[in-house]
Amino acid sequence: MTTPSTIPVLDLADLSSRDPAVRAAAAEAIRVGYGHFGLLYIKGHGIDPSALDAFYDGFLGFCAKSEAEKRRFGRDDLWYQRGWTPPNTEQAVVAGGQPDFKECYFAAPEAFHLRDQTLYPQIYADNVWPEDLPVFRSGLMSIGHQLHVIGLHLLKACAMALRLPDDTFARLTDNGPHITRALRYLPLTAEQVGTDILWGEEHTDFNLLTLLPGGRFLDPSGATCKRPDEKSGLFLRTRPTKENPNGELVSGTPPPGCIVSQVGQQLEILTGGRLLATPHVITAPSVPGYSRLSMAHFVHVHTDTVLFPLESFCDETTVRAYGPPVLSGTYAIKTLVDIALAPKSALDRLGYRHYDRLADIRAREGTLVSK
Ligand SMILES: [Fe+2]
Repeated sequence: MTTPSTIPVLDLADLSSRDPAVRAAAAEAIRVGYGHFGLLYIKGHGIDPSALDAFYDGFLGFCAKSEAEKRRFGRDDLWYQRGWTPPNTEQAVVAGGQPDFKECYFAAPEAFHLRDQTLYPQIYADNVWPEDLPVFRSGLMSIGHQLHVIGLHLLKACAMALRLPDDTFARLTDNGPHITRALRYLPLTAEQVGTDILWGEEHTDFNLLTLLPGGRFLDPSGATCKRPDEKSGLFLRTRPTKENPNGELVSGTPPPGCIVSQVGQQLEILTGGRLLATPHVITAPSVPGYSRLSMAHFVHVHTDTVLFPLESFCDETTVRAYGPPVLSGTYAIKTLVDIALAPKSALDRLGYRHYDRLADIRAREGTLVSK
């Protein structure tokens, strides 16, 4: 196969076309997009640009609050999985201690079970909201839900493209810890331009599939503007090939009217690497004062799902690459520690935690013996 040069565009309507040739072309777009680039542009998605605009206006209202007010929503006790993530908090695994230059807000637009909240109080926490920004709240919930539905369609398409039963991936997401995030990448000062500050260091998402409905650049006056230079925004790294052993960094700016969808680590693991988690980086402009608003919805497998290549993708290479199997909920805790959102002590919750009972018994025995 020759190396693909263009990120495919998939029209969601093509997935249910009566024409087998149209459906076959859609499947090929999935295989090339998610298999080589780890990314696919989506049209026919139904996201209303004016609703997205209203949501971003509402989010700016939150960002404009004082730090003291925002701190009320900065929930380190929830590992920042709900509410405000302050600047300089989250770190990509490869960042070497350099935190991302952004502030974010997390909420869950989909329902989940109380049983799962008991098991994972942070990952399935109740949403928290400022009282005075109803459009921010309703926009995040409704657009988040729309993106989720699109994600489920795409997961069915992935199964079709890999010749698996339609619900192979989608059924794993029922009542999962899906989460929508509003992001504001912060303006650099003149002194910060040209340093190694990145809006978001290169990373792969740890979920199943990520949907990005499109963002907004703001100039130093706060007005909406075009991308300030060729350097800024989302870039992704393609799959390594013989000619490009490090892959290629390509711009992830979608064609007008399209949204972006990206493969996460969970989908890579389940497919034994047939579909590839996309390394991506968000670079800051080379001019000071510009910021960017963005939104992302993360579709996850349910926390009870075992992450390991599905039977049809199990062979010696994939088992070696993706084993041993890990429970998705455990995987989430480990990852949130790795990216500095959860404390290291979160790992102490894994495995058996009742050794103190035996220690107490032995201590009492010791008391008896010494009498
Ligand atoms: Fe990401």
